Amino acid sequence: MLENKLGNYFECSPNNVHLFWKGRVGLYSILGALGLKEGEEVIIPAFTCVVVANAIIYHGAKPVYVDINKNNLQFDRKALVQAVNPKTKLIIAQNTFGIPPDYETIEALCKKHDISCIEDCTHGMGTVYKGSKMPPLFIKASFYSFQWNKPLSAGLGGLVICRDSSLGKQIEIFAKQLSRPSFFDSFSLGILLRVRPLMNASVLYPVLLSLFRSLSARGLVLGSSKSSELTGTEMPEGYLKSMSAVQKRWISSSLSLLDETIKKRQINFKRFDSVFASLNLQKLEVDTLGHSALKYPIFVKDKLAFRKIAERKGIKLGDWMNSPIHPVEYDWEKWHYFKGTCKKAELLAAHIFNLQTDLSESEMKRTISFVQENRSLFVSDL
Ligand SMILES: Cc1ncc(COP(=O)(O)O)c(C=O)c1O
Repeated sequence: MLENKLGNYFECSPNNVHLFWKGRVGLYSILGALGLKEGEEVIIPAFTCVVVANAIIYHGAKPVYVDINKNNLQFDRKALVQAVNPKTKLIIAQNTFGIPPDYETIEALCKKHDISCIEDCTHGMGTVYKGSKMPPLFIKASFYSFQWNKPLSAGLGGLVICRDSSLGKQIEIFAKQLSRPSFFDSFSLGILLRVRPLMNASVLYPVLLSLFRSLSARGLVLGSSKSSELTGTEMPEGYLKSMSAVQKRWISSSLSLLDETIKKRQINFKRFDSVFASLNLQKLEVDTLGHSALKYPIFVKDKLAFRKIAERKGIKLGDWMNSPIHPVEYDWEKWHYFKGTCKKAELLAAHIFNLQTDLSESEMKRTISFVQENRSLFVSDL
């Protein structure tokens, strides 16, 4: 059973493992299990994915955005302290690009104000903290994603690790009410899982990726998000689904490769980091020790111009987070975000791309040469 394999990987009981169709469904279930209610507030970083805000709003609660630091993309401590108020139900700490949250600061704040913390670990599966892959004890539950581009991908998929047995029981009650994915869902995902590696290896990767995104936005192929999730705050039909057998099989067979991939990612992350340091370019100040090093964030002067040049040279670019509530660029108020309230996050979003850290040696060399030859396209200090 996949629960046993994941239990072995995290060194926890299979009873602490809960599986979902997507990470966001895991988050929605945790919030429900915690009894999140209308009028309550949930603190999240202003550098997140809109589906996180949606899961909060679907419960009738309000996301409250906190600005981030440019040196680690994590909560600005002062802004976090200011955001806490009597309506705050919990904080969602976020692993961003493989960089874990500042657990010590958040734990102290949660203790002081008696609020709970859960972790968005969708970018951080495989993170080791104080010698363990389990989230720190003060975290009530962590949710992970198996979506494309995540440390371990099954195209789509969600996992919750919860050590608190009474909360775990509530999550299970939620999970039992989920519907099973349809034959069409499972069949389409099975096909995509076979086709996607061919797309990743193709020289036409950027063109194929935008074709894939436009087909999935129209609902013609199975995408990560339905278009209604990116334009409004109503829960779409078919959102509450459990994990399919296809996903379970895929994860089961890939899990043994995860730690090796993370080692490779950490090495490549460090290689990029020393190139950016040697060129005196804007970079994060983080230690990769124990991180999943999922993406290497880069900061460029003009995103449109940079994308054109980089894609012409065959550089694989990731575009997370293009806004404080990625990928939404307009009508932020629908998600309770107001322009100008998290200035650093907005500035970072206007300049950020990311490099993949699981590149082949030839792709690494090409990417590094590209950076060295095009230094003037990058930002030195934001
Ligand atoms: C920061 C963050 N949180 C949550 C999610 C949602 O994960 P899923 O697509 O598995 O629902 C994503 C998706 O990429 C994400 O980037």
